[in-house]
Amino acid sequence: MSKLADLIIRGGHAVTPNGTEAIDIACVNGRIVALGQLPGWSALQELNATGLHILPGAIDSQVHFREPGLTHKETIAAGTRGAVLGGITGIFEMPNTNPLTLNQQDLQAKQAIAARDAWCNYAFYIGGSAANASQLATLERLPGCAGVKVFMGSSFGDLLTDDDTVLQTILRNGSRRLAVHAEDESRLRERRGLVEKSGDVRQHPYWRDEQSALIATQKVVRMALQENRRLHVLHVSSAEEMEFLAGCKPLVSVEVTPNHLTLTAPDCYERLGTLAQMNPPVRDARHQQALWQAINNGLVDVIGSDHAPHTTAEKQQPYPQSPSGMTGVQTLLPVMLNHVNAGRLSLQRLTDLTSAGPARLFGLAGKGRIALGYDADFSIVDLQATRTIENHWIASVSGWTPYDGMSVTGWPVHTIIGGRAVVCDGALTTAQPCGRPMRFFESDNNEDLTP
Ligand code: DOR
Repeated sequence: MSKLADLIIRGGHAVTPNGTEAIDIACVNGRIVALGQLPGWSALQELNATGLHILPGAIDSQVHFREPGLTHKETIAAGTRGAVLGGITGIFEMPNTNPLTLNQQDLQAKQAIAARDAWCNYAFYIGGSAANASQLATLERLPGCAGVKVFMGSSFGDLLTDDDTVLQTILRNGSRRLAVHAEDESRLRERRGLVEKSGDVRQHPYWRDEQSALIATQKVVRMALQENRRLHVLHVSSAEEMEFLAGCKPLVSVEVTPNHLTLTAPDCYERLGTLAQMNPPVRDARHQQALWQAINNGLVDVIGSDHAPHTTAEKQQPYPQSPSGMTGVQTLLPVMLNHVNAGRLSLQRLTDLTSAGPARLFGLAGKGRIALGYDADFSIVDLQATRTIENHWIASVSGWTPYDGMSVTGWPVHTIIGGRAVVCDGALTTAQPCGRPMRFFESDNNEDLTP
């Protein structure tokens, strides 16, 4: 008797824990129920993946979706629409919204918007600050919370922890992996005057130099090691930090962004002006080579986009009043697949960075691998397709990408979330957003982790 699935993906090459396999995948109730040659199965929906690669759903563990409060830059609806169009099946969203995400009410307000509007799966960070430091052990375990994020240097918004005593209180109050933006606030303040009058964005990596990043990274790592607290250093941008971080495993994990792997100073500032301005800055080729080395030797654990939209009008303000940040959630996979095509990393390594990596570091239940019983989230990509990234493709409210005009080989084709084809042949299919909160092993209500 034939077995009935909700969805069968046939004819593709799947990246599984065994390598790359020519297998079919059957999904029931949002889970993977069979893998292999599946002649005895039929399905309500069959997806032909001939010539395509099926990756475990890619998770972007660093995005700023600006809602509530800054919806002229981005919204959860538009940000997650961009995510699925770019092949991303889940996101972790950052707390520097307005209001900041500092307590249970703030978190629930975002979750309520996402329950209505999110096209992909989601989790939200709580911001760590003097205001909530002593409550973080409880807050970080709320369902759907990705953990705590700390800004050691001011970037965008009012979230800042530049006081060592507060940082120590934060490190002591909680046990989950703490995510940090590591730039040293006092050095940033000292050095801003050096570039203030120039109006020249090429000075950005000079103002926020590699020492600013290294000083903060070394300080927070030292403190975390003392407290035996797991740490996640976001958007590592310099050779010096990578050299230091190589000695800090396994307690400390490392993120890099596609921007730091792809754009290079001074060229990017000459071509893009303040559009290329982000924190920590895109640096020169020496640093970029060190980041690639860290991708290839395994030091880097995840790739996050740091999707941080601002409107083009805001970006056009004279430097350094121009805000830092670029869109990225929609271009993460196209840009990284292009690097795969160019031979800079393998497809297996890319899925380690975008799927298995986030699942392993943050304790995501049911995510990160194509395996029996895991969630049926897939990024199905065409490694041969050559396309041009263009602003008009970008779903973000801000409507632009630093990669406008870039030709890439490797493109997301279908995005499957919970066994539903949300994007088919590059276009949204379902009438309604159907993203769900992601579940964490270290969350306080884990009763829903049972099969
Ligand atoms: O460039 C950045 N922009 N870096 C950050 O860490 C924050 C972000 C934003 O929220 O705009």
